[in-house]
Amino acid sequence: MKSVNTTFPNEKLPMTTKRQYHIITFGCQMNKADSERMAGILEDMGFEWSEDQYDADVVICNTCSIRDNAEQKVYSYLGRQARRKRQKPDLTLVIAGCVAQQEGETLLRRVPELDLVMGPQHANRLQDLLDQVFDGSQVVATEPVQIMEDITKPRRDSKVTAWVNIIYGCNERCTYCVVPSVRGVEQSRTPQAIRAEMEELGRQGYKEITLLGQNIDAYGRDLPGLTPEGRRENTLTDLLYYVHDVPGIERIRFATSHPRYFTERLIKACAELPKVCEHFHIPFQSGDNEILKRMARGYTHEKYRRIIDQIREYMPDASITADAIVAFPGETEEQFQKTMQLTEDISFDLLNTAAYSPRPNTPAAEWSEQLSEEVKSDRLQRLNHLVNIKAAERSQRYMGRIEEVLVEDENPKDRNQVMGRTRGNRLTFFAGDIKELKGKVVQVKITVVRAFSLTGECVSDCC
Ligand code: SAH
Ligand code: SF4
Ligand code: F3S
Repeated sequence: MKSVNTTFPNEKLPMTTKRQYHIITFGCQMNKADSERMAGILEDMGFEWSEDQYDADVVICNTCSIRDNAEQKVYSYLGRQARRKRQKPDLTLVIAGCVAQQEGETLLRRVPELDLVMGPQHANRLQDLLDQVFDGSQVVATEPVQIMEDITKPRRDSKVTAWVNIIYGCNERCTYCVVPSVRGVEQSRTPQAIRAEMEELGRQGYKEITLLGQNIDAYGRDLPGLTPEGRRENTLTDLLYYVHDVPGIERIRFATSHPRYFTERLIKACAELPKVCEHFHIPFQSGDNEILKRMARGYTHEKYRRIIDQIREYMPDASITADAIVAFPGETEEQFQKTMQLTEDISFDLLNTAAYSPRPNTPAAEWSEQLSEEVKSDRLQRLNHLVNIKAAERSQRYMGRIEEVLVEDENPKDRNQVMGRTRGNRLTFFAGDIKELKGKVVQVKITVVRAFSLTGECVSDCC
């Protein structure tokens, strides 16, 4: 066996010096959750977190490929680390995540200094893969696998809020999106495994859980079981009822919802279950039916509006957030105006906007009617302007109100303040001592409103 890395264990180091790792994470909450699990594995293996990536012995870059020239960014990042490796041959360089899956062996060919290229489905196998690297191999792990049940203890960034994956992958075929090709087919975890993880989090003192899936409404489609009435047994709604009473957990959120599969039963459950927060993240992508069809989204803007109306019927104050894409291939000004109209009509609490970006292995990237950069940035600017106005309007409803806030941390810009989130997910600041308030749910009277955040005064006894 060839020995590229003779690094583990490094006998030259004093016994007290732990080997160090650093993880840089791009992309969505899935990637952040994967990074936390990989960090947990590394700590179990005896590694210690290094704040400075250029001091670490193992560097993992967990990449995102959703838009722009993600691949190019990874290559330019790797340039510097590859130079460092030439000075420090025992450095272990890992590319994980969606660009790793997309590029696979090409990454190794272009950057021979790399030790490991691993797709997102392999995150829980990090120890096994690193052992192969330490034995002297260069490893590419991108083949589809049954995701290993989560036996790792993630090293979570927060001590108050935590992510819990409930379904991996995505079976949709939105024509712009790279996710299905990099995250693989849907794989739901069992309700028992999810509940067990939440119970452990509750015991450790976590207060808020966000259940995660790229298309969370697909949860359970791949699990067996029908109710006596012939309905699928394991839906997201059933899961919410099943995990709702986990001791210690005070708030439950979930993301991301897909309008095609969103049900009234789910809305009712959210209205009925006190721990489930009144916040819905339901991307609409476009307000025009023709564009939605070409995106293969499987709903119309009318259906989207009906969902929001229904949510507001049951929970008038619910906060609604979404994602939208402008300048999809062939989008006319008139069609773009439909997206503006929907944004105007719904009044989102937050809308994540992006200009369409062609991605490898997606149908829309091949279409001829790609729009110019000028059109993209002009539409993006106009939509963002509207989003800010609407979010500021939506924030006004909080003025003078008493909101329930779960305190997460101190305000990094003002150490005399703490920060947390309302049930509707608005970031909220108020004067207080983090040592006393961290992880507490308190009542805050809102005195200042901004488009995307609030400031107030604590009116609970503990403050
Ligand atoms: N699963 C979620 C979103 C996943 S990706 C859903 O179905 O909505 C997050 C967001 O990135 C998408 O909602 C979309 O708005 C944006 N996005 C995805 N692919 C894109 C592309 N090729 N160009 C621009 N934005 C894109
Ligand atoms: Fe991408 Fe569509 Fe799947 Fe969302 S539902 S991850 S946009 S393919
Ligand atoms: Fe990016 Fe992969 Fe998430 S492409 S958005 S990190 S699923």
